[in-house]
Amino acid sequence: MAVPRSEYLSSVWRDGIFDKKVVFCTGGAGTICSAQVRALVHLGANACIIGRNVEKTERMAKNIATARNGAKVIGIGAVDVRKIEDLEKSVARCVKELGGIDYVIAGAAGNFLAPIEGLSSNAFRTVIEIDTIGSFNTLKATVPELIKSAAKNPNTGTNPSTGGRIIFISATFHFTGMPLQAHVSAAKAGVDAISASAALEFGPRGITSNIITPGPIWGTEGMARLGSRDAEKSGVAFKHVPLQRYGTVKEIADGTVYLFSDAGNYVNGEVLVIDGGDWRSPSGMGGTTTYPDYLLDGSFVRPSAQKAKL
Ligand code: COA
Repeated sequence: MAVPRSEYLSSVWRDGIFDKKVVFCTGGAGTICSAQVRALVHLGANACIIGRNVEKTERMAKNIATARNGAKVIGIGAVDVRKIEDLEKSVARCVKELGGIDYVIAGAAGNFLAPIEGLSSNAFRTVIEIDTIGSFNTLKATVPELIKSAAKNPNTGTNPSTGGRIIFISATFHFTGMPLQAHVSAAKAGVDAISASAALEFGPRGITSNIITPGPIWGTEGMARLGSRDAEKSGVAFKHVPLQRYGTVKEIADGTVYLFSDAGNYVNGEVLVIDGGDWRSPSGMGGTTTYPDYLLDGSFVRPSAQKAKL
């Protein structure tokens, strides 16, 4: 069943602004990335979404295609962003079936809560490999197509339909440091650094590279892993956020449309934080329990117990 536009896109954007464009998105079956792609498809783009789970990815592709009559959305499953060959094959299929790649969203990520003492070297490495190396691999595999797209659709300041854009999905944890998130903080700091370097290396060829950093967003796997149902029910979870609420996937999709649209042509090497001001709020894991109690009371010392809950 088609998802109502109001759930993934504001009314301010004009239909057709992404006609004939193609978006390639890793982690595209996830809650946030699927909303981003759905918004772009609604506004004219075709898409390839990439995921690990074949069935989930193909099912989501079909569902996203309902956002616009005639939309082509391909779901490519069994892809691990840690393997560059997987991504290269996906890019080749996307180009063969949809004609090229104009926009990329590097969204695949892995996360769990764990204190440094409960984090094995392999657990740390796993998140670095998925988030940082996976983002690098996504850039590396798609950049030849982005270069072609930017050459065809130049970023002149007057061309309303540019191509050659990449957005990496990051986090705010490394801005301040975050308990239970040393692995993700390190991984996402690396993602931000890759994006900044890409902005400098590929800007001269008309490509823009930016970060979108979602804060706490309703209904996401991230919040299922990081948030607390009890704190959400009582409202305590929202007290940490200056706007006193979680965000919606629509608010992340709107930021994506902005950065890929004519309105975002001159934005390059930036970090767009969409979090209601959350990262500026005093420390703590938004509403779980009080800092530093959860570090001292043993809540997170047993990884196996935590894994079982997810
Ligand atoms: N606490 C501590 N360590 C944990 C953990 C937890 N909650 N969950 C996994 N690990 C450790 C494992 O024990 C293992 O380390 P070890 O070999 O020393 O025991 C290591 O992480 C790798 O786990 P594994 O299950 O083999 O990795 P994977 O590649 O199958 O899964 C994860 C990757 C761990 C990131 C998994 O959570 C995942 O697949 N996530 C994808 C979806 C997701 O996280 N979405 C949220 C986005 S915000």
